[in-house]
Amino acid sequence: MKAIVATDYGGPEVLQLKEIEKPTPKDNEILIKVHATTVTMGDFRMRSFTVPPLFWLPARITLGFTKPKQPIYGMELAGEVESVGKDVTRFKVGDQVFASTLTENFGTYAEYKCLPEQAMVAIKPSNMTYEEAAAVPIGATTALRLLRKGNIQHGQKILIYGASGSVGTYAIQLARHFGAEVTGVCSTAHLDIVKSLGADHVIDYTKEDLSSREERYDIVFDTVGKLPKSISSKILAPNATFVTMARMDSKESMKNLIFIRELIETGEIKVVIDRCYPLEDMVEAHRYVDAGHKQGNVVITVNKRMSSKRSSQPDIDRPGIYQIRIKGHLSRQRMDWFEGLIITLEDNGDTLLTGTVIDQAALHVILKKVRDLGVPLLSLNSVEPGPQHTSDHK
Ligand SMILES: NC(=O)c1ccc[n+]([C@@H]2O[C@H](COP(=O)([O-])OP(=O)(O)OC[C@H]3O[C@@H](n4cnc5c(N)ncnc54)[C@H](OP(=O)(O)O)[C@@H]3O)[C@@H](O)[C@H]2O)c1
Repeated sequence: MKAIVATDYGGPEVLQLKEIEKPTPKDNEILIKVHATTVTMGDFRMRSFTVPPLFWLPARITLGFTKPKQPIYGMELAGEVESVGKDVTRFKVGDQVFASTLTENFGTYAEYKCLPEQAMVAIKPSNMTYEEAAAVPIGATTALRLLRKGNIQHGQKILIYGASGSVGTYAIQLARHFGAEVTGVCSTAHLDIVKSLGADHVIDYTKEDLSSREERYDIVFDTVGKLPKSISSKILAPNATFVTMARMDSKESMKNLIFIRELIETGEIKVVIDRCYPLEDMVEAHRYVDAGHKQGNVVITVNKRMSSKRSSQPDIDRPGIYQIRIKGHLSRQRMDWFEGLIITLEDNGDTLLTGTVIDQAALHVILKKVRDLGVPLLSLNSVEPGPQHTSDHK
């Protein structure tokens, strides 16, 4: 299989396209055909070995003393399950998944990646392309964890420093979801995107000195780890909270990934993609990320044929027939929840819900019920009305 291999620590040119052996899944693993991955600030740090002086030795021992122990970087993926080990129960061949490999030895800059079924891997959002889904797991769950660490509450004022990056763009949308009043801080070029994601106020840090602001905030979230303490302590309200990426662990939670997926499927969270490169242009993609000013996410298309396909792209601005596929057979007791829809218990163990949805609100009600079932939503498709249906509306 094709993979991008780091031959040394250093500039983007240490990354080389090579042919290596395709992995085989163990009994508890799934083999994923990777359709898309990302280039994150974390990848840049690993490649260039940019670590604080105090961590130099422990980081070299962990990552490899003279050259990288794990030469295939990449922390996020979206792709399709190609095969499963004999003990796997959560996934089946053909499932479309997205995952973080932060605690699974990275390795997504490749055509295939094996992951234990208990890793941070889940069915991908049904309304996203592989490129979009690949850019979700790390940025979005990190933003969520930090907002929860700050104990974000409805009505609070939050300032997000570094609002235009991967973590920042998710933090804005999540803070709005939790009912906070959001102020986003970024450079001039990114003011529009930060506003469009729902920030109530934007501050251009190249033009305004934050320390001279009168306003006080209940939470200050520094997504870059660069906000001087002299400024953060000045703009915090009494008993307020400061959360920063500079003091951040790498604990991940599947519950958080599922929570994010649900917000994506109901349209509350969107992904911002700055640039998309083919696998072969990894060096270029790293050069761009190295500059430190990407907007949202930089995505790598690994498998060109598949990646731009959305598994479903419902047009919810007009009434139509929808098909929602969920994992597992719906129990008799829960069938009442979906009155008015045709319920098909399929031979492969999934349930198909089919029916007319009149508007976005009605679709959200159905999706909320699916969420309450606590089972994965596998796909959501808008079905073209047949001739009979069309004539009904004439
Ligand atoms: N430990 C973990 O699990 C974990 C997970 C995710 C991220 N992280 C870390 O969190 C940090 C943020 O990640 P990210 O993916 O959001 O990075 P990113 O996408 O590169 O975003 C960083 C943003 O910071 C802004 N910025 C750059 N220099 C700035 C400065 N001097 N002052 C103010 N803003 C500045 C840039 O916006 P402008 O262009 O508008 O200036 C950029 O959009 C990185 O250090 C990353 O390694 C850690």
